[in-house]
Amino acid sequence: MKKIIGLVLVLFVGGFVLMQLVPYGRNHNNPPVVSEPNWDSPETRALAVRACYDCHSNETKWPWYTNVAPVSWLIQREVDEGREELNFSTWGQSGEGEEGEELSEAIYEGGMPPAQYLLLHPTARLTDAEKQALARGLTAIGGTEGGENGEREGNESEGRDDDDDGHEENEREEEDDD
Ligand code: HEC
Repeated sequence: MKKIIGLVLVLFVGGFVLMQLVPYGRNHNNPPVVSEPNWDSPETRALAVRACYDCHSNETKWPWYTNVAPVSWLIQREVDEGREELNFSTWGQSGEGEEGEELSEAIYEGGMPPAQYLLLHPTARLTDAEKQALARGLTAIGGTEGGENGEREGNESEGRDDDDDGHEENEREEEDDD
C-alpha cells in the first residue's frame, strides 16, 4: 500500500514539474499601448482598469501564480481571448467589441468580469453604483450599432477588373481564329 501511495506521489510531483517545462503561458510581455479610447472621464478609465484591464488591455498585471502551470495556461487563454474580443489598448482597430451597447451588456448580462477572476481579484468587484458608472462611461466611448464600415461605403467600384465576366461580347470574336 505504501508503495502505491509513494508511486502516486512521485507521478503527481513529476507531472507537476514537467508541466512547468511547457513554454505556453509564460510569455508575459505586454505589447505596446497603441491607442486608448477617448475616455469621457478619468473615473471611467479607473473603473475599467480595475475591473477589465487584466484581460482587455496590453497592461495586464502578471502576479507570481500566472507563472505556475497549469494555472498559467488558463490565464494565458483568458488574456489572449479577452484581448481578441476587446482591447482598450488598441482602441479603434478591431471594432467588434467596441460597441457601446455591447460593452455595458457585458457587465450586466455577459458576466464580465468573470466570477473566477473575482475570486482571485476581490478589488475588481464593482458595487452597483460603480457598475452603473462604468456602464454609462463605456456606452459613451463606444460606437453605436451598425458600425460596419463596408455597408455604407457607396463605392460600387466602377472599374471592375475582370474582363471575362460575360459583359464584353466583342472579346469573344477572338475565339474563332482557326
Ligand atoms: C479574467 C479576464 C477578463 C476580465 C477581467 C474581463 N473580461 Fe471581458 N472577456 C474575457 C474573455 C476571455 C472574453 C471572450 C470569451 C467570452 O465571451 O467569455 C471576454 C469577452 C468580453 C466582451 C465581448 C462580448 C462578450 O460578452 O463575449 C466584452 C464586451 C467584454 N468582455 C467586456 C468586459 C468588460 C467591460 C470588463 C470589465 C468590467 C471585462 N470584460 C472584464 C475575459 C475577461
